[in-house]
Amino acid sequence: MVSTHPAGVQSGRQYLANSTGAASPNQQLLPLSARINNRDRLEIGGCDVTTLVQQFGSPLYILDEDTLRTACRQYREAFQKYYPGESQVLYASKAWSCLAVCAIAHQEGLGIDVVSGGELYTALQAGVSPDKLYLHGNNKSLEELKLAIDSGCTIVVDNWYELQTLGNWSSVVGDREDISDPLPTTYYPIRIVLRLTPGIECHTHEYIRTGHLDSKFGFDPNQLDEVFAFVSQHSALNCVGLHAHIGSQIFEQQPHRDLAGVMVQWLDKASGYGLQIEELNVGGGLGIRYTEADDPPSIDAWVKVVCAAIKDACTVQQLELPKLLCEPGRSLVGAACVTAYTVGASKTIPGIRTYVAVDGGMSDNPRPITYQSVYRAVLANKMSVPATQTVTIAGKHCESGDILIKEATLPPSEPGDILVVLATGAYNYSMASNYNRLARPAAVIVKDGEANLIVRRETYQDLIRQDCLPARLSSEA
Ligand code: LLP
Repeated sequence: MVSTHPAGVQSGRQYLANSTGAASPNQQLLPLSARINNRDRLEIGGCDVTTLVQQFGSPLYILDEDTLRTACRQYREAFQKYYPGESQVLYASKAWSCLAVCAIAHQEGLGIDVVSGGELYTALQAGVSPDKLYLHGNNKSLEELKLAIDSGCTIVVDNWYELQTLGNWSSVVGDREDISDPLPTTYYPIRIVLRLTPGIECHTHEYIRTGHLDSKFGFDPNQLDEVFAFVSQHSALNCVGLHAHIGSQIFEQQPHRDLAGVMVQWLDKASGYGLQIEELNVGGGLGIRYTEADDPPSIDAWVKVVCAAIKDACTVQQLELPKLLCEPGRSLVGAACVTAYTVGASKTIPGIRTYVAVDGGMSDNPRPITYQSVYRAVLANKMSVPATQTVTIAGKHCESGDILIKEATLPPSEPGDILVVLATGAYNYSMASNYNRLARPAAVIVKDGEANLIVRRETYQDLIRQDCLPARLSSEA
């Protein structure tokens, strides 16, 4: 009997994107280019996934270039459509930071939000222009701040410690020779944006909620006056914008509507301190579809709401429209990638469950064990075979909780089948680890039948590359 769980899915076919060009990637379970070929196999970007695994091994992250570019364009075009002022979309590279993904975002006209020296370095190496780079972080090191200033990237100031540090640096610009660790002076005044906590609640996982008052990020909005006064007294701090981010994987529209109103009030207050704030950045957070139960608004609909809310609030406050920025991560890259695994051992416990194990797990996708995230999967080499079994997809780590999918509805599987977990583009590769000394997977980008490596698979040599064996511990000692 064909299983009708979940929501009537009867084979891998049902997960295919149901429309083409106009589809919003964040509403699709599979990349937009996904097809089933005449061998009943899943194809992405014109490449047979089963063949890709033969060629590049597994686990394998497979990134569909068209889906990523479509999402970038949809954001950009929606701002052009709904916002009469200037706008800039930034890619939140914490979702997936590597040279190729940053380069694509850059080619599509996006800037990049980075949260560490490492992400900043990656974006710079990918050729992103520094004037479109914004460095975030609630505890940036002095080296990271210096790298940002040196490279001409804007700093999103998160707290008093950082503001005072930058203020102190900037106030000695005139006699830099006097300090022992001189900063490059070329980029003074320092371009900063202030991150504020808006006190807005949204319904998402506690760990990925950031806008409520009890958050480690951003200035307390009750201290706005002090913050604005401080900035206005430091002429070498060039405060160009205000920023807030309320959380991630959000499906509701109201929190961002509310946020826009709150931020425009901040803008108004800043003008009272003589600060010419040109930019408002409303953060990221638009959710994506991981299962049929998820129903996020489209990229177009989300941008429309944000733009309307900012326009309305500016009309009420009689303010000029600021340059509007947002910084999505998940909704740009999430649906563009799948992870392909090879099926190995299985274990049936009669009356309880069947475990089907794959050759990766919590090291390449820590989201299920961290956030209890639910994913869907298909067998890439059996796309039309009826999904008659409900099994538990286990990873290969020495950890009972290393379960990728608790209840996966799949065709009967056997060792060697290619199991593909959907919508793994965001916060999978970027959160991957070497737990149990598993080498991190390779990633390929696919387009028009061509597959190119964008991240090489780690080797055993890579795993011990940073290890040091003091002479007295070596067996030859
Ligand atoms: N801007 C800021 C300041 C952020 O903190 C984040 C995400 C974003 C933008 C992008 O948010 P997005 O558009 O991707 O929702 N590891 C978690 C998600 C953590 C999100 C952290 N901040 C997960 O796997 O669900």
